[in-house]
Amino acid sequence: MKIFLDSANLEQIRQAKALGAIEGVTTNPSLLAREKGDWKRAIRQICKEIDGPVSVEVIATEASAMLTEARDLVKIAPNIVVKVPLTLEGLKAIAELHRRGIETNATLVFSANQALLAAKAGASFVSPFIGRLDDIGQDGMQTLQDIMTVFRNYDLTTQVLAASIRHANHFFQAAMLGADAATVPPTVLFDLVQHPLTEIGLAKFLEDWKSR
Ligand code: E4P
Repeated sequence: MKIFLDSANLEQIRQAKALGAIEGVTTNPSLLAREKGDWKRAIRQICKEIDGPVSVEVIATEASAMLTEARDLVKIAPNIVVKVPLTLEGLKAIAELHRRGIETNATLVFSANQALLAAKAGASFVSPFIGRLDDIGQDGMQTLQDIMTVFRNYDLTTQVLAASIRHANHFFQAAMLGADAATVPPTVLFDLVQHPLTEIGLAKFLEDWKSR
C-alpha cells in the first residue's frame, strides 16, 4: 500500500518525507485554505518536494469550469493529479480529462456505485472517505471493502486511495484489505510509529546500558 500525506503544509510534508515512507500528497480546499500565502506557489513547492502524485482539487462545480481549472492546475507541475468531486458534473469532467490524458482523483466517494462510475470514466484514483462515513454511523471500512471487491471482480485498474483516515486502525484495515494507497494526516502518520512496548523496551535497554 502506498502512503500519501493528507496535508497542504510544506513543513509537515518535509517532516513526513524524512521518514522515507511518503509516496504522494493529497490536498483539499479546506487544507489549502489553512495555509498562508499564494496557494499556487505552495502547490509548486509541494510538487518539487514529493516525487509522486500530488492531488489538487478543483473548486468549480460545473464540468466546463472544472476543465478550465484542471488545465491551469496541470501547468503548475507534471505530478499534479486533478481532484474532482464525484458529482454528475464531476464525472463528466473526469471522463473528458481522461480523454485528454490528464490524471484524476475522484474525491468525496461514499459508495461502491460511485467508485465504479469513477473507474468507468477513467479516474486514476478513487478516494472513499472512511472516517466521514463512520461519522454518520455507517461503516466506512465496509465501503472500502465493497469497492475493492467490485474492482477485483472486473479487473479495474483505477487505484483505490483510502481517504479520511482518522486513526491507526483505519490505516491497518485499509492495508489488510489491499487498498492501493492510503492518505493519512500527519498526526496519524506519526502515531503509526508509536508502540508502548517500543518505548518501554528502549528505556530498559538504555537503563541497563548505564549500569554496565
Ligand atoms: C482526501 O483526499 C481528503 O483530503 C481527506 O482524506 C479528508 O479527510 P477528513 O474527512 O478527515 O477531512
